[in-house]
Amino acid sequence: MRRSLVVGNWKMNGSREKSRALLDDILKGLGQDLKSDVGVCPPFVHLPEVALALQGSSVLLGSQNVADQDEGAFTGEISALMLKEFGCRLAIVGHSERRIIYGESSALVAARYAKAIEHGLIPILCIGEILEERESERTFDVIGEQLDAVLNTAGVASLAKAVIAYEPVWAIGTGRTASTEQAQEVHCWIRSRIARLDSDVAENLQVLYGGSVKPDNAAALFSMPDIDGGLIGGASLDANSFLKICHSA
Ligand code: PGA
Repeated sequence: MRRSLVVGNWKMNGSREKSRALLDDILKGLGQDLKSDVGVCPPFVHLPEVALALQGSSVLLGSQNVADQDEGAFTGEISALMLKEFGCRLAIVGHSERRIIYGESSALVAARYAKAIEHGLIPILCIGEILEERESERTFDVIGEQLDAVLNTAGVASLAKAVIAYEPVWAIGTGRTASTEQAQEVHCWIRSRIARLDSDVAENLQVLYGGSVKPDNAAALFSMPDIDGGLIGGASLDANSFLKICHSA
């Protein structure tokens, strides 16, 4: 039985004070009887604040990206080693906002993923198609290519220490969620594709869904057999909404 995982992606929001207050409210509301793991990915500069507040808690700290290099002349990048100094356990890689707005290629995403694995951070590899690709029935080609880039670089065994997030780009921040059937179809496809390479890895892999997950649709999505939790953007900025989603996992 796979454990479920719910991760808040705070994106570029808040302030040190707001991040701290949001986390305090989340910690107060989580309680002890939670059946799922929970993580939060604040902006880089809020990591120290949030890490301090998380001491002694089981909530996992994550970053929203990680460098493909260890150190040196890479202006604007933050390495896995630096993130680990702040207690980061997770690192989102390949979010569609990185791929589309900042032009990160699948090769770069795979290199970032490999660095996370090398240093023991758990990468949350985001994959997903844009609306036009879905409408022209290219969803599986696109996510297949995104997946293959990582498999060719880091190998299937690396997925034993990673998480995948299927995030249809047309559902991110749009209020338009994939239906439970649409999401399950893709999650099942991802797992089957990995099972062809290693059935144990595929069986144990957590595949999260992301894209307008809200308190009122989370339970239905999480009830699907191949959906093991969620990567939550907008709704993770409101403690009550995020807590409701965590409790439905
Ligand atoms: P959303 O974002 O929940 O606001 O759609 C999800 C994400 O981008 O990870």
